Amino acid sequence: MKLTYYGHSCVLIETNGKRLVIDPFLTGNPSAPVAAGDIRVDYVLLTHGHNDHVGDAFEIAKRCDAVVIAPFELATYAGWQGCKSHPMHIGGSHRFDFGTVKLTLAFHGSGYQPAGEQHFVYMGMPAGLLVTAEGRTIYHAGDTALFGDMKVIGERHAIDLAFLPIGDNYTMGPDDALTAAEWLRAKRVVPIHYNTFPLIAQDGKAFAERLKAAGIEGLPLAPGESVEL
Ligand code: NI
Ligand code: MN
Repeated sequence: MKLTYYGHSCVLIETNGKRLVIDPFLTGNPSAPVAAGDIRVDYVLLTHGHNDHVGDAFEIAKRCDAVVIAPFELATYAGWQGCKSHPMHIGGSHRFDFGTVKLTLAFHGSGYQPAGEQHFVYMGMPAGLLVTAEGRTIYHAGDTALFGDMKVIGERHAIDLAFLPIGDNYTMGPDDALTAAEWLRAKRVVPIHYNTFPLIAQDGKAFAERLKAAGIEGLPLAPGESVEL
């Protein structure tokens, strides 16, 4: 399994001959190392409806004939935009041809702002994602606060690598993300959702050092960097 960080919350997963992209916010993302038009995938996974996560999802899914996997309201909306979609919801898991996806809790919002319109299309509950393939389990927390049930997620799933937001302001900051990593019992943690904009500036390397002191491997991937599991 190969995981590539594309900045903000965007991650490319290559496994079992399939390519998946999570939260492909590339257009308008100053940290994105690739253009949306360069993305070729079989699946687009979305955690919630905020525009810095939906991003280029609909364009990518339509161009690649890829399936959008997302919480029910968001997946249904993707279908209305002309995408293939597979709606799921929190607590549900489904086996796809690349592996299994399970949606988890996330404490956040999920309003989508259609381009040029001053209103939200509310996309229900935001989610986190557990992706299991090739005997590995990846957790992408989406945007979330720290919450106690992360302990339950960690008890019930052996997490090989967790993508956790550390940007603060809109999500967990580094202090809460460190506690999240411990509660999740994650073997490795990649910090996400930081340094995209000045408001969410954080030191990824310092966060990785704090993880190391807690016995957890921290991988502060630069946008464009990959890790093999
Ligand atoms: Ni958000
Ligand atoms: Mn966000």
